[in-house]
Amino acid sequence: MDKALAEQIQKLMLQNRRQSRGFIFTLPSPDSYPFQWFWDSCFHAIILSHIDVTTAKAELFSLTRFQFSNGMIPHMIYWQHTAGESFPRINWGRRRTSSITQPPMLAYAAWQIHQVSPDEEFLKTMIGPIDRFHRYLLDYRDPRRNHLVGLVHPDESGEDNSPRFDAALTMPPKQNIDENFRRRKELITRFRRYHFAVKNRMDMRHWVRDVPFNAILVRNLDAQAKIAQVLGDHVQARWARGQADNIKKAMRSILLDREDEGVMYSTFGRDYQSIKLKTWAIFAPLFADILTKQEAAKLVQNHLENTKEFASPYSVPTVAINEPSFNPKGFWRGPTWIASNWFIVKGLQSYGFEAEANKIIGQSIQLLKKSGFREQFNPMTGEGYGAHDFTWGCLVMDMLQPVDLKS
Ligand code: GLC
Repeated sequence: MDKALAEQIQKLMLQNRRQSRGFIFTLPSPDSYPFQWFWDSCFHAIILSHIDVTTAKAELFSLTRFQFSNGMIPHMIYWQHTAGESFPRINWGRRRTSSITQPPMLAYAAWQIHQVSPDEEFLKTMIGPIDRFHRYLLDYRDPRRNHLVGLVHPDESGEDNSPRFDAALTMPPKQNIDENFRRRKELITRFRRYHFAVKNRMDMRHWVRDVPFNAILVRNLDAQAKIAQVLGDHVQARWARGQADNIKKAMRSILLDREDEGVMYSTFGRDYQSIKLKTWAIFAPLFADILTKQEAAKLVQNHLENTKEFASPYSVPTVAINEPSFNPKGFWRGPTWIASNWFIVKGLQSYGFEAEANKIIGQSIQLLKKSGFREQFNPMTGEGYGAHDFTWGCLVMDMLQPVDLKS
């Protein structure tokens, strides 16, 4: 890769690194996000696997430090002294962490580190937290054992104000970002009353079986199986593979659209109301090998390459351009994010769509060159928005130098 870009990435990853109580982690953006976040840390570990494997391991180690006794890994950790005291914090009913989770990328990140630099001792420290976390998701977030994990809050998807959660929040497609935030905070207040004991209360408010979260879980159960295999735990490996298979089958039978070949939609509520709107989430199943080759080809041709939907000058918009909710400046309601591009690129590469993957890699790099390491970008003009010195742009390093994760 381009030397100047590689140097910028190394510099940013170092600049955002912090230490607290002997633990090492990276802030997504010192000004806007001065704490540790779950899936961000997994991205950081993936990026750091190319730069500094020891720090990559430390990042995952600190992430598992506050795992709950029921196995949940919180999506935010408020380490000491990484933000000013006046920096706004949400009341999650806990002092050090939030009370919800985020997409389960831990096993994937740990497996990638091991592929770059084999280290069974490291895997031994990770397998317990990974196993407990996955069992938490399958037990607590799928109380009726339908093999689809549910989210209790939009922020658990990592796509806070995505229109996929409008139905659950009873909000219209055109909306005000502050109003959306108010509704999300209201939901937190409700759950706080129940101390976030969500297991038997999921159907009360927000029960979204989300496509990316479940696809990511499938991929991570597969990584768990690989890790368990290396460590000689064949029972656990078989269990993880079986669970991944169950979710794949449930996604195919419940989420796959009957008319639009290869398209999957998230569902809402106990009766699986289909959330029929096109966001980048329709490409997430590619990341976990859930579609057939033919379905994948249709998906790419009809939607990714469609200029009315996802083929924009700076792809891939997080919401299709022709959706009523599309807003090119709307946070997760339209702008291009490098992490969603990363998932799409990985999926395309695994199905052999090299040219299509390379196009998105090229556009991602162009965005960084044009607007810097911003949080999101206008998919039409490439203008950068939100946080500065945001680490997710560094994922282009892993797009350009993919690690073979198959073995
Ligand atoms: C925003 C994003 C979320 C991310 C967090 C920290 O809330 O929506 O996905 O984890 O910022 O970067």
